[in-house]
Amino acid sequence: MTDDIRDRFRNLPVDATSQRAFADRGLEARLVPAADPAFPDWLRAVRRGFLDSDPTDEQVAATAERAGDRRNTGVYDPTGAIPAIPVGTVASWGSELSVPGGTGLPVSAISAVTVAPTHHRRGIARAMLEGELRAAAAAGYPASVLTVSESTLYGRYGFAPAAAAASWRIEPRRAGWVGPEPTGRVDFITRERFRELAPGLHDRVRLATPGEIEMPAGHWDRFARTRPDAEKAAELRAVQWTSDAGAVEGVAIYTVAEDHDDYTKSKVGISYLLAATPAAYTALWRFFLTLDLIGEVTARELSEDEPLLWMLADQRAATVTVTDHQYVRIIDVAAALEARRFDAPGRLAFEVSDPIGLSTGRHLLEVDQTGTGRVSTWEGDAAPSDAVLVRLGIAELSAVYLGGASPLTLARAGRVESTDAAAAARVLGWHVRPRLSFWY
Ligand SMILES: CC(C)(COP(=O)(O)OP(=O)(O)OC[C@H]1O[C@@H](n2cnc3c(N)ncnc32)[C@H](O)[C@@H]1OP(=O)(O)O)[C@@H](O)C(=O)NCCC(=O)NCCS
Repeated sequence: MTDDIRDRFRNLPVDATSQRAFADRGLEARLVPAADPAFPDWLRAVRRGFLDSDPTDEQVAATAERAGDRRNTGVYDPTGAIPAIPVGTVASWGSELSVPGGTGLPVSAISAVTVAPTHHRRGIARAMLEGELRAAAAAGYPASVLTVSESTLYGRYGFAPAAAAASWRIEPRRAGWVGPEPTGRVDFITRERFRELAPGLHDRVRLATPGEIEMPAGHWDRFARTRPDAEKAAELRAVQWTSDAGAVEGVAIYTVAEDHDDYTKSKVGISYLLAATPAAYTALWRFFLTLDLIGEVTARELSEDEPLLWMLADQRAATVTVTDHQYVRIIDVAAALEARRFDAPGRLAFEVSDPIGLSTGRHLLEVDQTGTGRVSTWEGDAAPSDAVLVRLGIAELSAVYLGGASPLTLARAGRVESTDAAAAARVLGWHVRPRLSFWY
């Protein structure tokens, strides 16, 4: 079923309404599959959009290999000096978003959104994004997801930050360890071994954390620097943790930056720490916090709510910076809500508005004692009796969907209206803080 949606989505033509918007501007859009001879120029435009250099042949080949599942769109200006290089780009592909309750919601993931500075602020990005959402709806995706270069870009299309990412900076000598004493053993491994082990471990754990998506094709090679186009691969170190029973349940990769003036102030940057069990988590963090000569350990895209904090004797040894990270845009409200579980029973009558009209509607969510929700529509002037009325935009519903933002907080911020925002918060909250552990 999921594969059907993915194929259907990848093969959908460019959205007709967007195509008209491009034509009004003298532009034309078309799909650029990775095998298309136009792909290198499409990639050139993407890299230029993200302030990067032109790709080498090796980078084109590596990117094409991992982009086979993607729906790449290029917007072209036939009157430009180099018409083969698109003035607008976007890529999308079918993925699965972990939602509360350990389920994967089929979603379209969007990336590579760029508009050439020669053509920006003429509505090209808007036409591309709205087209992406209509294509996702046409394929049957109940939601779309993306990560952002700037926080201000996507709210206008109904996206909202739904899972945060936290950067942690720890002074290991000050921190002190009050966590459990680790069992098992930590060993150095090759980057290639990390590359082999990581996908299986990630698949074991990703559904337990709302906000994660499937690791996009090519990302493990990027983390492990195992592609021929990888830079500074030799700087990367990798370790694994093995339980007393002999099972490898955790891996990590990291770099070390020596401080030549004072060796004891050298720094470790953890690129990815993946633990499938609490014991692996404990042992790997204990390893990093007891390295000799290291004055600072950093890690990014962690949770705001890491058990690690409670393993430190001095919590002020950790500086945690939280940023908006995983953006979600619900498209089909009923399908999205029914796919997740809830921590508390209740009846919520949503009145949802949508800036682009895809998801406007009235939905009654009824959550039973087991935390399962059923959604129906409601009509008339008044919300159904006994139901809490929640009036909000699709972005606000997307923000609370994974349990990351509270409807009560959004009500206090003037972003949600409700007859009982606290009751809505109890139903929509979730006991695991959402998180996304990488960029895409
Ligand atoms: C961000 C980018 C894609 C916008 O493209 P664009 O074609 O200029 O955008 P549009 O003209 O379609 O603008 C659409 C809306 O976004 C707004 N907008 C565009 N760029 C913005 C920015 N940097 N900050 C805030 N708002 C912005 C516009 O004002 C417009 O608002 P409105 O339609 O609600 O009135 C383009 O500037 C770009 O390529 N930037 C560099 C790469 C990048 O950051 N990409 C995003 C990756 S997540």
